[in-house]
Amino acid sequence: KLQLKGKDFLQLADYTTEEILYMLEVAQELKAQQKQGKPHPHLGGKVLGMIFEKSSTRTRVSFEVGMLQLGGHAIFLSSRDIQIGRGESISDTAKVLSRYVDGIMIRTFAHETVEELAEHATVPVINGLTDLQHPTQVLADLLTILEKKGKLAGLKLAYVGDGNNNMAHSLMEGAAKVGMDISIASPSGYMPNEKINERALKFGQQTGSTVTITNNPQEAVKDADVIVTDVWTSMGQEEETAKRLEAFQSYQVNTELCKLAKDDYLFLHCLPAHRGEEVTAEIIDGPHSVVFDEAENRLHAQKAILKLLLEK
Ligand code: CP
Ligand code: NVA
Repeated sequence: KLQLKGKDFLQLADYTTEEILYMLEVAQELKAQQKQGKPHPHLGGKVLGMIFEKSSTRTRVSFEVGMLQLGGHAIFLSSRDIQIGRGESISDTAKVLSRYVDGIMIRTFAHETVEELAEHATVPVINGLTDLQHPTQVLADLLTILEKKGKLAGLKLAYVGDGNNNMAHSLMEGAAKVGMDISIASPSGYMPNEKINERALKFGQQTGSTVTITNNPQEAVKDADVIVTDVWTSMGQEEETAKRLEAFQSYQVNTELCKLAKDDYLFLHCLPAHRGEEVTAEIIDGPHSVVFDEAENRLHAQKAILKLLLEK
């Protein structure tokens, strides 16, 4: 049994392949228990503080429900209402919250904010999305693919769209860690972060999977088992919306593009989605789409993270 107690969950790069597969196994166990109505109060009396500097539907609700199902409690802390919004430092906030709560989840802008919080907190810190990474989402994505395909290693995942955003980066690390080939198709100027690419290539060498970056969506999607996209304009980039709409025009996931994938491909999207932009309604609401199972799996994947990191 792997020991993850007390660790932070900032990015998948910080976890070994074995640890990621173990988290997925625990997620499946917790999911089965919940479906069977078996109580699983592993975190009785524990409290999670949740700092949100950006909007959220799934992350907020799934963490809150997850803590409740584990016998604990979650506190929603909007940055508008806590003193961070008035300039209190991240380090003081980390030290103070650590005296009250057993874990801190944070959704913010700069990835450095999460790192600073983790450095000063004495309880585990979980990254609920930064501009750079969205690791809890990708753990849920891996869980969804594993459930539907029965395996991860050896599959090909194609990501079409903004290669320089949190989803692309966390998918690159997650796929490479579990031995899944990943192909990212993005327009020039929206290519993945160089450091994350190098890191993913290194993980891929260890697991025997490939990490490919291209301008060509057709090439990326060819023979893919899984197609993923994400919004063209992420939170915090609203001023660039018009420019991005134009830059990503030929990167839409639509019926024509998906014909190049394997016949039994899955379509994933972390949501929220913009039908008619990054994906057509025909695809996201069609038979290959598993976006609502994916959204549900946020709950189960995060319960595994919470159980393993916060357990007594
Ligand atoms: N996918 C995701 O993180 O959704 P929210 O922004 O609603 O939390
Ligand atoms: N890339 C998106 C993901 C939303 C869950 C964003 O950061 O807005």
